[in-house]
Amino acid sequence: MINSTKTAVAFESQFGKKPMMFIAPGRINLIGEHTDYNEGFVMPAAIDKHFDFAVATNQSHLFNITANDLGETISFKSDELKSGNRWENYLMGVIDGFKRRGKVIDGVDCMFSSTIPSGAGLSSSAALCSGFGFALNEIFHCGLAKIDIALIAQEAEHRFAGTKCGIMDMYASLFSQQGSVMLLDCRSNMHEYLPVHFEGFEILLIDTNVKHSLNDSSYNDRRAACEEGVKIMQGKFSNIKSLRDVSSTMLEASKSMMSDDVYMKCFYVVHEIERTLRAPELLKANDLTGFGKLMYKTHWGLSKEFKVSCEESDWLVTWANENEITGARQMGGGFGGCTINLVKKEMVPSLIDDVRTKYFAAFKREPDFYNVQLSGGVHKTKTALDWRER
Ligand code: GLA
Repeated sequence: MINSTKTAVAFESQFGKKPMMFIAPGRINLIGEHTDYNEGFVMPAAIDKHFDFAVATNQSHLFNITANDLGETISFKSDELKSGNRWENYLMGVIDGFKRRGKVIDGVDCMFSSTIPSGAGLSSSAALCSGFGFALNEIFHCGLAKIDIALIAQEAEHRFAGTKCGIMDMYASLFSQQGSVMLLDCRSNMHEYLPVHFEGFEILLIDTNVKHSLNDSSYNDRRAACEEGVKIMQGKFSNIKSLRDVSSTMLEASKSMMSDDVYMKCFYVVHEIERTLRAPELLKANDLTGFGKLMYKTHWGLSKEFKVSCEESDWLVTWANENEITGARQMGGGFGGCTINLVKKEMVPSLIDDVRTKYFAAFKREPDFYNVQLSGGVHKTKTALDWRER
């Protein structure tokens, strides 16, 4: 039984009614890491790993929510919302976003389950918030646009989970289109789809199984360093709003005014925005070798300049380089999670065998491998039960 049908069946047996079903995908990001909260560009896409939500109104003032994979159910009222970084706090943050926009969403029965590995840098929390927000908007006819739902999901992370993330993850989960990546401008929140032709290649994620959590201060510290750099440079260049407005020449001219740490963080972001803007041309020309080189540059920038990598990710990317893999880098917020690899199809089986053995020998930890497809964004769906009734 596919996952959404399983969730629908479990929902019916727990709540005794038929749900509406929704799918909310995780995402990859080809390039443009830690640029979103600097108003730069990113190139994400949703993938075929997702949350399933079964949702129905319940004409009460209670939110009854079951995390099916964990076997946990909680019930609360909309005036009992609490911050924290357990799954329910993210959902409470979403409810709070609706309330702050004056939307009435009292009384929901909900069950969800997921095929997105958590802590792997695939944005499971953004998918959780985006999918739940999308579902609430539908079942209560709130009339919010997808961008409002993305902003609500981002606010949930900021206000309830304490991660000052950018907009990329929720935007990708909501707006992606099957078979495309998007170039998202994180200043205007506008995107363009770029159809990609990876014929003969696979996008292979290698999960270090070093579980990252962006809730600790490391992620927010990086953001703070970027903001400090901007503040310093505003003393010299009055029209700067974010690192998006800073060229490498401007940064060099300001170097003596900032600490080495702040300089290196800004250096990484300014160059990553440049790389991300070069990337579409390479993809359009189908120059995957050139694109792969940019991925490697991003990785070493993340590792040596922005300092969000870890030994295991560096090891995987070094292995990829030595074995002539077209492109590889750590993906997402960092500190572990997955590397994203652009690999010639015929090389995949031997890569998996070799990496599995050598990675285990080096770290006494098994890696996981996910071959992902570029998928559409959050949507309402049907289950095998709906089709049977037609
Ligand atoms: C996490 C955040 C995103 C983004 C990436 C790094 O996934 O949620 O907003 O900053 O890290 O690119």
